[in-house]
Amino acid sequence: MAKRVVTFEIFRHNPLDPDSRPRLQPFILEETPRMTLFTALTKIREDLDPSLKFDFVCRAAVCGSCAMLVNGKPRLACRTRVEELPDRTTLFPLPFFKLVGDLSVDTGTWFRAMGARVRSWVHTMEQFNPTLEERMSNEEATAVYDLDRCIECGCCVAACATAQMRPDFMGPAGLLRVARFVADPRDQRTSIDAFDVVKTDEGIFGCVGFLACHDSCPKNLSLATQLAYLRRKFMLTGIGIGKDGKNHHNVSQTVGLPAR
Ligand code: SF4
Ligand code: SF4
Ligand code: FES
Repeated sequence: MAKRVVTFEIFRHNPLDPDSRPRLQPFILEETPRMTLFTALTKIREDLDPSLKFDFVCRAAVCGSCAMLVNGKPRLACRTRVEELPDRTTLFPLPFFKLVGDLSVDTGTWFRAMGARVRSWVHTMEQFNPTLEERMSNEEATAVYDLDRCIECGCCVAACATAQMRPDFMGPAGLLRVARFVADPRDQRTSIDAFDVVKTDEGIFGCVGFLACHDSCPKNLSLATQLAYLRRKFMLTGIGIGKDGKNHHNVSQTVGLPAR
């Protein structure tokens, strides 16, 4: 059977070169069995144009480096089979993040700043004991483990309309990070501490809830559930229901919300 010929129209631009103009450059390849988009790009770089910039490290959906817009949707190149793609495919770098060149963007600077902004570490007054691991229930450990699976690829942020409109939005990945530490029983911050981090339009109240982030996460993280959880939890915190589940301002009945 004749091999399929596929065309990749790839965004090219070097922001450091004053003579560079953003453009789409077509590359034509023969599809090979089990070819991924990552292997196709590697072949283009090896055989057709060694100057093509794109990122990868793990080739196994672990490092988060190879995210890009594939026919308009954020995806990991190493996890995308060419056989799933039409004969002609456009590739753009992820929006929102700083362009390094062609398909390569700098997600690291944004994720580092986001981690500092949401204070992404366990806050505790307990003395660290290197010989004794702190205990938590299986349910708590599973919840934390699940939320910790984010590979910082940026797909959810690239898909988020709010993030495109306001660069100060902490993004679905930032909100997920807050949820991760709220779920961690070792973290001694209260709901009110966490609410202080996310209580503005740059945080949970800027999220319009259309869930493009959820549909774009290559690790299938439960962004929809977490965003709904944060919104509800912090709405209750904002009206006075504390970590103990009690309504300290006695207003939840006024707005018809159950205490939790
Ligand atoms: S649901 Fe919220 S965080 Fe997710 S894409 Fe929409 S605005 Fe962004
Ligand atoms: S939440 Fe999912 S899409 Fe967003 S950065 Fe993490 S792994 Fe990527
Ligand atoms: S190369 Fe690491 S996620 Fe694709």
